[in-house]
Amino acid sequence: MFTNSFIFLLGLFALALQIIPRVASAPLQVPFDQFLATVKAANFHQWRHSTVDSEASFNQMKAHILDMYSGVGSVKHSFVHDGRYADCIDIHRQPSLAGRPLATAPVAALNQPPTSQGGPEGPKVPIDSPLTQNLVDPFGNSISCPDGTIPFARLTLERLTAFPTLAGFFAKSTTGAGQALSGRELEGGLESRGPSAQPHLYAYGFQQITNFGGHSWLNLWSPVGDFSLSQQWYVGGSGASLQTAEGGWVVYPQHFSTQAVLFIFWTPDDYTTGCYNLECKAFVQISNKWNLGGTFDQYSVTGDGQRGFDLQYKLFQGNWWLFLRGSSANYDAVGYYPGSIYNKGQLTKNAELVEYGGEVTRFTTADVWPQMGSGMFPSKGYSQAAFQNTIYYNPRDESDGVGVWSFLTKVVVGSHSCWDINITESAQGGGWGTFFFFGGPGGNTC
Ligand SMILES: *[C@@H]1O[C@H](CO)[C@@H](O)[C@H](O)[C@H]1NC(C)=O
Repeated sequence: MFTNSFIFLLGLFALALQIIPRVASAPLQVPFDQFLATVKAANFHQWRHSTVDSEASFNQMKAHILDMYSGVGSVKHSFVHDGRYADCIDIHRQPSLAGRPLATAPVAALNQPPTSQGGPEGPKVPIDSPLTQNLVDPFGNSISCPDGTIPFARLTLERLTAFPTLAGFFAKSTTGAGQALSGRELEGGLESRGPSAQPHLYAYGFQQITNFGGHSWLNLWSPVGDFSLSQQWYVGGSGASLQTAEGGWVVYPQHFSTQAVLFIFWTPDDYTTGCYNLECKAFVQISNKWNLGGTFDQYSVTGDGQRGFDLQYKLFQGNWWLFLRGSSANYDAVGYYPGSIYNKGQLTKNAELVEYGGEVTRFTTADVWPQMGSGMFPSKGYSQAAFQNTIYYNPRDESDGVGVWSFLTKVVVGSHSCWDINITESAQGGGWGTFFFFGGPGGNTC
């Protein structure tokens, strides 16, 4: 009897040894075709323990994924980065094109900074895309995409069913809000937007000015919390016709990762619709170098190299072009929001407002308000507090133009004991032009 149980236990132990390493290892490799076949075969019953709120919502999510991939054809290369899959999709068959031809990259179209004088506050260490670092994933796949393809973060049921509805997945955050309040709205006393139980809180600078996009260098950090970002907003229209093109970095674990990821966002209708990155048919990507929604491989550290990247939006010949630059001398034209997605609205002509800064929200009253920026107050200054600098807007739809330094008005929404922003205008900004330090520790009473 004793011997039998012993052998039985030994057998269990051996079985466990076989199973445990598989469970604990990196995610299993799922080739693209297998992934898509699994989505096609999926039903609500398998996902009823996820966050999705109903079978109808589940079916919408599944239909969205299948619709997005319906025209992409075969995928020859995929990789896993930070535990998440990206597939290299034929540039001409990406969902956003829907059969339309690709716009030509305006290589020289972006605006250069205006001239500035004086030394910079401190050195800036450019961060490059992990896709240009010759990295290899745990399965031996190169973390890069061949020419003629673009990296497309895999849209899985696991990611979508982390939200109650498809609209919740698309939204800037589950609480719906998203845009910093303009001066006008602040005067009107509007405190929060959308159906949010928990408001979005901010520290940012804005300028109401006719513009065709703009620029900043964003110091990259990875603060802790439900939702915390550093970004640029280009905004036009008002009320239900408010439209934006946005970009920067965001910590949003429910949607992306506990580490900050590169992101873009757009809305044509005051955050009723719109989406992140390539997650709905909107942004057309042309560069194979940048993985929207992907983490970086290095972040800024207190007292050490202040890492970051240049980001510029420019409305050029009818499309909102996105430019990014790491350590390279030249910017990459990453892709564009086609003017057509703005339905003849204000952003097809020009933006009317620029905003730069930090935004946070929390999802329930039980959560603490996130850190903003680096988690340090702006008074800590360089190498401790997060910043954006070289902030200028693009005054015209022209090729190869020069920007105009932004003149920003400070807005803090929330308690000054949680975060703040300290703007330095270009006249005092030296080599940094217009810049600001921002952020703070967040906490329970913001
Ligand atoms: C604001 O930033 C400027 C420039 O870095 C600095 O000289 C000043 O002391 C800062 N003010 C506060 C209140 O932190």
